[in-house]
Amino acid sequence: MPFPLLILALGLAGAMEIRVPEEPVVALFGQDATLLCSFPPEANFSVGELSLIWQLTDTKRLVHGFSGGRDLLQDQGRAFANRTALFYDQLALGNASLLLRRVRVADEGSFTCFVRVRDYASAALTLQVAAPYSKPSVHLEPSKDLKPGDVAAVTCHASRGYPEASVLWQDSRGANLSANVTTWQVANEEGLFEVRSVLRVLLEPGVTYSCLVLNAALRQHGHASVTVTGRARPFPPAALGVTAALAAAVAALLALLARGCRRRAGPEERDEEAEEPKTGREQEID
Ligand SMILES: *[C@@H]1O[C@H](CO)[C@@H](O)[C@H](O)[C@H]1NC(C)=O
Ligand SMILES: *[C@@H]1O[C@H](CO)[C@@H](O)[C@H](O)[C@H]1NC(C)=O
Ligand SMILES: *[C@@H]1O[C@H](CO)[C@@H](O)[C@H](O)[C@H]1NC(C)=O
Ligand SMILES: *[C@@H]1O[C@H](CO)[C@@H](O)[C@H](O)[C@H]1NC(C)=O
Ligand SMILES: *[C@@H]1O[C@H](CO)[C@@H](O)[C@H](O)[C@H]1NC(C)=O
Repeated sequence: MPFPLLILALGLAGAMEIRVPEEPVVALFGQDATLLCSFPPEANFSVGELSLIWQLTDTKRLVHGFSGGRDLLQDQGRAFANRTALFYDQLALGNASLLLRRVRVADEGSFTCFVRVRDYASAALTLQVAAPYSKPSVHLEPSKDLKPGDVAAVTCHASRGYPEASVLWQDSRGANLSANVTTWQVANEEGLFEVRSVLRVLLEPGVTYSCLVLNAALRQHGHASVTVTGRARPFPPAALGVTAALAAAVAALLALLARGCRRRAGPEERDEEAEEPKTGREQEID
């Protein structure tokens, strides 16, 4: 009985220091990620002496194994099949990093890098998966025969993002609108979220309602807005709805408002100013 405990104690007391990132590693959904892990190579150390195990910290499921100079993958978790590799030419330099291909939402979590040469040690890192939301879109219901004082629903929609978004609604003055907002987030089979938020408003002309979809992991902000205009606009009724030039102007204005800038934007200011995806719409009421 005392024998394994002794080995464990010796192992923990060993001088070998494994280095992994302390901060969570943010990996983009669908792209390849490198999970960094390194150890100090001993003098005269040969790769044949190295045993390396990457496993999920919680379940101990094998992600990638390497021993006696070759990969050991018989017990590899099925979710990782054909998706892992080491940097074989760098093992002798003490680089035990793992390449994880085509990152999935289910990969998110803690990974342990376990290294044995003569001594052994392990360290864990956290993988955080992120996917940018699509450019949001907004629409107003009902979309015609609008009158001031009507109750309307402004719906904002964005898709295929991760993790869950925060949705903020703002009026023309940049004030937060949190009453009468309902937001749903639904994950698809890949774990990516579709977000839909509905703001109920009493219509008044000259008000812009804008929706901001925020992805905290990527510091990504998407904007979309709808502006309720009065009957003074020179549009025939058939031209109600989206007009690209106006949409760009509204988008630029929103970008300026979002940056806390009080300057007015004219239609000549296009959305080159802003990197964030955004759309704008105008809706006329009588
Ligand atoms: C490395 O190996 C060589 C030959 O095997 C040996 O002569 C030398 O003393 C070793 N050095 C260390 C630091 O172990
Ligand atoms: C991995 O690749 C091999 C060879 O290309 C293939 O036979 C096997 O089905 C693949 N496994 C998975 C889980 O994709
Ligand atoms: C290990 O190899 C990876 C992939 O080439 C590289 O990005 C990383 O910087 C290397 N780490 C060290 C400590 O050399
Ligand atoms: C709106 O809410 C967000 C998040 O709750 C906050 O960061 C922001 O300062 C608020 N803006 C105003 C104008 O209250
Ligand atoms: C919005 O909420 C307030 C109070 O929560 C309520 O008085 C108002 O009627 C609501 N407006 C709409 C359009 O539902």
